[in-house]
Amino acid sequence: MEFSVKSGSPEKQRSACIVVGVYEPRRLSPVAEQLDKISDGYISALLRRGDLEGKAGQVLLLHHVPNVLSERVLLVGCGKERELNERQYRQIITKTINTLNETGSMEAVCFLPELHVKSRNTYWKVRQAVEATQESLYSFTNYKSNFEEARRPLRKLVFNVPTRRELAVGEKAIQHGLAVAKGVEQAKDVANQPPNVCNPEYLATQAAQLCKDFDNLSFSRFGEKELEEIGMHSYLAVGRGSANESVMSVMEYCAPGHENDKPIVLIGKGLTFDSGGISLKPGAGMDEMKYDMGGAAGILGTMRSLAELQLPIKVVGILAGCENMPAGDAYRPGDIITTMSGQTVEVLNTDAEGRMVLCDVLTYVERYEPELVIDTATLTGACVIALGHHTSGLLSPHNPLAHELINSSDLSGDKAWRLPLGEEYQEQLQSNFADMANIGGKGAGTITAACFLSRFAKKYNWAHLDIAGTAWKSGKDKGATGRPVPMLTQFLLSRSGQEIDE
Ligand code: BES
Ligand code: MN
Ligand code: ZN
Repeated sequence: MEFSVKSGSPEKQRSACIVVGVYEPRRLSPVAEQLDKISDGYISALLRRGDLEGKAGQVLLLHHVPNVLSERVLLVGCGKERELNERQYRQIITKTINTLNETGSMEAVCFLPELHVKSRNTYWKVRQAVEATQESLYSFTNYKSNFEEARRPLRKLVFNVPTRRELAVGEKAIQHGLAVAKGVEQAKDVANQPPNVCNPEYLATQAAQLCKDFDNLSFSRFGEKELEEIGMHSYLAVGRGSANESVMSVMEYCAPGHENDKPIVLIGKGLTFDSGGISLKPGAGMDEMKYDMGGAAGILGTMRSLAELQLPIKVVGILAGCENMPAGDAYRPGDIITTMSGQTVEVLNTDAEGRMVLCDVLTYVERYEPELVIDTATLTGACVIALGHHTSGLLSPHNPLAHELINSSDLSGDKAWRLPLGEEYQEQLQSNFADMANIGGKGAGTITAACFLSRFAKKYNWAHLDIAGTAWKSGKDKGATGRPVPMLTQFLLSRSGQEIDE
């Protein structure tokens, strides 16, 4: 898709379609009003006859509106003017894109960024429109034998902004929106791959390819031999039962002149399949545990967005690739493992494997003397119980970092909510035989998992993002979401001083 911005009046556009909003009940937006005037009340007459009420998501496609140069006018219902919120705005864009794509307009001029969304500026509206557009156009059809594309798909979208003064922020918004969308797409593409294709080595080849494609990015691979040499025994224990080798991928991004910065370190859980191991999971829905590498996919995607944006910072991205399988040499409940940090862990459930992998990576990254570390992981089913599928769980002992991340989640629309991380929860990890157990018992599973990780993240500022409920969708829309790429990319944008307030 090609995006651009323009500032002009609707009647003067010569396009396959112009898109304007109508509020409920039957109230024209200012732009629709202009079209109505020039067409001698053609549109208001239709509304009076009851063709469109203006409810959010309703659409009405008109052809050859009198005195309008464009072939079509798409009226889009926007709900009550005062009530138009961010979620509805995105839904309206999605509906618009789907309609355009199905009705043969290969290009369109869209006036929807002129709608009023509470406390959001033109930059936000254009960027969200770009991201929502790319989202609606995504599909994963690699393994479909007979896939038919739309006959006349939408190819070019022009966003109209209210004043010429806003053209520059509009351009920025498109650039940022596209970078986020590319990262999201990359994350989805990798995560949607089946687990017989996407194994830890596959994650490494994807990371290596990305680092080849972009300057400022370099790649290194740590196979089992290398992981052994640096003492990552806990990570290795999880992968031991799998025929696929455990591979940790490290991507280093450094903008020119930032060689001496302390890096921001991003770590993603990359369980390319989590069967539970000896503590085997129940069968229903187990296929979805191919998405247990959603954290790694999110970090790969974020590195992609970062490389597209060429932000003036230093970032290390790590994919902790591993597969958790039952086997004769698999790790078992009761095993005591010495982690890279020297702390010992009694394994009480082999299905609590994510933390066993991540704890060693958290120790490994100490050597970077990081500015801060963020890990993201589909870590606990408990997080899905607590927050469902809309909001990721954020846990951090460092208030400023937590606030910064919540702010990024708010700006990007990729929602996260902070859960507490009080030391009283640490007691649930008590073990009779080792320094700690790998599970914390019945209550607060997301918090005790983060407590476990916190014991390995003492040497730097750290935050943990549990994306168990948000990394993919189940049911008929089953598929990866690309989250938390938007939030993490926003975090990096904000860190590089690229926040835009107009
Ligand atoms: N990958 C799972 C968590 C998960 C489950 C994510 C369902 C998304 C949907 C993780 O490795 C796991 O199995 N966690 C266990 C921990 C328990 C044994 C303490 C869980 O949540 O049941
Ligand atoms: Mn598990
Ligand atoms: Zn898992």
